[in-house]
Amino acid sequence: MRYKHLIKCDLAVSNTLSKPSKINFPKHVAIIMDGNGRWARDKNKPRYSGHQVGLKAVRETVEIAVKYGIENLTLFAFSSENWARPEEEVNSLMKLFIEALRKEIKELHLSNVNLRFIGNINALNSILRKKITEAEQCTKNNTGLKLTIAMAYGGRWDIIEATKSLIRKVQEGELQINDINDKIFSVELQTFGIPCPDLLIRTGGERRISNFLLWDLAYSELWFTDTLWPEFNQSILDEALMYFASKQRRFGYTGEQVKATIC
Ligand code: FPP
Repeated sequence: MRYKHLIKCDLAVSNTLSKPSKINFPKHVAIIMDGNGRWARDKNKPRYSGHQVGLKAVRETVEIAVKYGIENLTLFAFSSENWARPEEEVNSLMKLFIEALRKEIKELHLSNVNLRFIGNINALNSILRKKITEAEQCTKNNTGLKLTIAMAYGGRWDIIEATKSLIRKVQEGELQINDINDKIFSVELQTFGIPCPDLLIRTGGERRISNFLLWDLAYSELWFTDTLWPEFNQSILDEALMYFASKQRRFGYTGEQVKATIC
């Protein structure tokens, strides 16, 4: 069937999920990690401590993703809009990212994780940029989990930059306007080479996309939880995975067409 390639129906066997034992696993999970600030406020702590505990949840989530054999995990760590936060919070987040890379890179490398960053990396400070380059360089040949961290990233920014690049190519005669289609467009995006997320998880109770992966989320399954990011754990991830497993992905086709392709 001509749409066969669109249907992601790989079966993965998991002993770690309680039930069912055989589930349809997403190849790419993207997460909006929201709720660090509220977690800290509820405990009468500074916002920074919410981000610190949030980092622990990141570590745990990456470990589970490795254990489950999820191929791609993309985390929204800092949005283009987060620059507008109080200077003190932005600075403390930048320090936390540097510290995290310094401490975690060895372990990530040992776990065969391939680390990549997307976003306006040039807007970050030089120490963080250096750590990012080192981390990407160190893990570039790893064949396990592809972990993408979105930093200073905005979906609109990504689309605008891609558009500028295409205009340049048209102006230089490298490309004809009528050649532009979604495949050509996606080559210009930061996420080129990473499959579109199958499942988007957002913690923290809000049900919105907040300028994350606007192009890539077109057909993703969306799953929201009230759990604040610092409290995210394996059983909550399992809930999201169960939800995903229960969905029939149609990509615009009918349910009958999809069934005919799978079976
Ligand atoms: C959103 O919660 C969270 C952030 C803007 C920062 C996310 C950063 C981490 C989880 C730490 C480390 C991450 C990596 C990948 C190194 P919020 O502050 O908007 O929470 P609120 O909505 O309750 O205020």
